[in-house]
Amino acid sequence: MNSDSFKAMLVRKDEEGKFNREITTRKLESLPEGEILLRVKYSSLNYKDALSAIGSRGVTKNYPHTPGVDAAGVVESSESNKFKPGDEVIVHGYDLGVDTSGGFGQYVRVPADWVVNLPAGLELKESMMYGTAGFTAAQSVLRIIEGGLRPQGGKILVTGATGGVGSMSVAILKKAGYIVTASTGKTGQEQFLTDLGAEEVITREDLTDSSGRLLLKGQWAGVVDTVGGEMLATAIKSTRQRGVVTTCGNVASHDLNINVYPFILRGVTLAGIDSQSCPMERRKLVWEKMSGEWKPYVLDSICRTVSLEGLDTEIDVILKGGQVGRVIIDLWN
Ligand SMILES: NC(=O)c1ccc[n+]([C@@H]2O[C@H](COP(=O)([O-])OP(=O)(O)OC[C@H]3O[C@@H](n4cnc5c(N)ncnc54)[C@H](OP(=O)(O)O)[C@@H]3O)[C@@H](O)[C@H]2O)c1
Repeated sequence: MNSDSFKAMLVRKDEEGKFNREITTRKLESLPEGEILLRVKYSSLNYKDALSAIGSRGVTKNYPHTPGVDAAGVVESSESNKFKPGDEVIVHGYDLGVDTSGGFGQYVRVPADWVVNLPAGLELKESMMYGTAGFTAAQSVLRIIEGGLRPQGGKILVTGATGGVGSMSVAILKKAGYIVTASTGKTGQEQFLTDLGAEEVITREDLTDSSGRLLLKGQWAGVVDTVGGEMLATAIKSTRQRGVVTTCGNVASHDLNINVYPFILRGVTLAGIDSQSCPMERRKLVWEKMSGEWKPYVLDSICRTVSLEGLDTEIDVILKGGQVGRVIIDLWN
């Protein structure tokens, strides 16, 4: 490969409108304009990347495209005085991997405003073990704490618990001292979840109430929901007085059929989590927490590392809801 070319996953739309992905060679000059050229060492797989890889218009509008909302690596060249060649940095969210060529390629070129210095206490690979999923989990935990919930205040429920955001949420909550109930649709993953720090494991069915009741017995001090739909509605109705429920995902459904009583009788807060456009000040605060007091002991055991060539099958797995933990991509292996 020449020094002006690099390896990347490229998703193309064919003449029949079908989307195909392949690992191919791209030219550096095909990257968009931006102040920072980053040699990407690691990326990670998020649900949104899988949607981008199959042509979901809700994520990516323009193809051919290289997905990957996460990238960690070394600055190759910089037109900004904020960064210099050799700096270890992280980029996630904004338009990366959406309509800007993303981390499933060995190089990205991005605006300097999107770039975060790798915090002390984290290695590049560890930052991608977290990736957008871990960042979203950490933001959710921060909202729970800001909502006034303390570890002794009761159980925190995590839905979609074996997934990327879910598993990271269980591990971070445990590290922050909370008692966690993990909900999963997978059989045989109880040990994985208790190893991450869950005190108890329940099924999706336990969390799907179809009685039509407007309020259910208050069980949860707080909730980190990653799935949406009926499970989120049931979780809100089962949240105790002044509880905080965070919502970030829609793998089950984007619908939310809820009434006002949990909010006006129990003072429940429903907090939306948006990582893509999280302001830089808060982004840095969350990364600081992730690199320090919230860094789980089990970060390694939540993750598997694959090469770019190994990514294809992982995309199929995550689309079927089969993801367990996190998948890291080593771009140079
Ligand atoms: N708002 C944001 O900023 C933000 C950031 C990151 C991710 N997200 C969203 O958060 C969600 C989770 O992302 P992720 O990367 O963690 O995905 P993921 O790794 O695929 O995890 C999702 C988990 O949800 C559960 N699940 C899958 N299909 C389900 C269904 N039909 N009904 C109920 N549960 C189901 C599964 O866990 P169990 O088998 O254990 O139940 C699955 O592992 C996605 O919707 C993603 O788009 C949002």
